[in-house]
Amino acid sequence: MSSITLIGTGNMARTIGTLAVAGGNTVEVMGRDQSKADALAKTLGGDTTTGRWGAVPAGDIVITALLYDGVVPVVAEYADALAGKVVVDISNPFNATFDGLAHSEETSIAQEVAKVAPAGASVVKAFNTIFRNVLEKGRPDVFVAGDNARAKADVAAFVESLGLRPLDVGGLRMAHWLEGMGVVTVGLAGNGVGHWDFALGANEFTG
Ligand SMILES: NC(=O)c1ccc[n+]([C@@H]2O[C@H](COP(=O)([O-])OP(=O)(O)OC[C@H]3O[C@@H](n4cnc5c(N)ncnc54)[C@H](OP(=O)(O)O)[C@@H]3O)[C@@H](O)[C@H]2O)c1
Repeated sequence: MSSITLIGTGNMARTIGTLAVAGGNTVEVMGRDQSKADALAKTLGGDTTTGRWGAVPAGDIVITALLYDGVVPVVAEYADALAGKVVVDISNPFNATFDGLAHSEETSIAQEVAKVAPAGASVVKAFNTIFRNVLEKGRPDVFVAGDNARAKADVAAFVESLGLRPLDVGGLRMAHWLEGMGVVTVGLAGNGVGHWDFALGANEFTG
């Protein structure tokens, strides 16, 4: 089982935290509002703990469940407290009309996180293509991107503990395209699929 720290106390922190506790993982919650962290830890139950904002996370895997524009600043603020950790960025940097990315270059929040993360931390992109409501009731594929094979294996083991299938899409530069997949998913929800109860996954047709 994994030990994880959730930085953030919103919807995705609650959903991933609920699955993590059910999967037998050790969970810690950190929030810039300590009362929200305490409340979420109580909601998650089990042996969930809270940590002080900015302190060294107890978890080996640190999930930044923050709005996209907070992720890089918060990782920079934590600085050496994240040394040796696997930092998982789940964000979707949507533009104002939800039909493109908030950054125009061929980068991603995860790649920008890697630039400010301390030496020895490994950044992985995961979970961003899955709507929260689907995570709560479905068994979607979880696409994972990162440059460190060991870190991706750790995240894959955590994903499997949630009863979900991790799928490695390649190096961290693929995070850009996973963020693009997030845009495509919203486009499908508003158009061809017409609702939010679905997730993109990989169907294999090996004959
Ligand atoms: N919801 C989904 O279906 C879904 C699916 C896939 C990926 N995601 C991604 O998951 C991330 C979290 O989404 P969510 O739905 O959980 O959002 P949310 O419910 O609005 O929660 C956002 C959390 O981020 C914190 N936060 C925001 N800006 C911050 C900053 N500058 N510094 C510190 N903390 C900050 C908030 O703290 P306060 O409460 O103190 O403001 C809150 O705990 C987003 O990047 C989103 O794109 C969401």
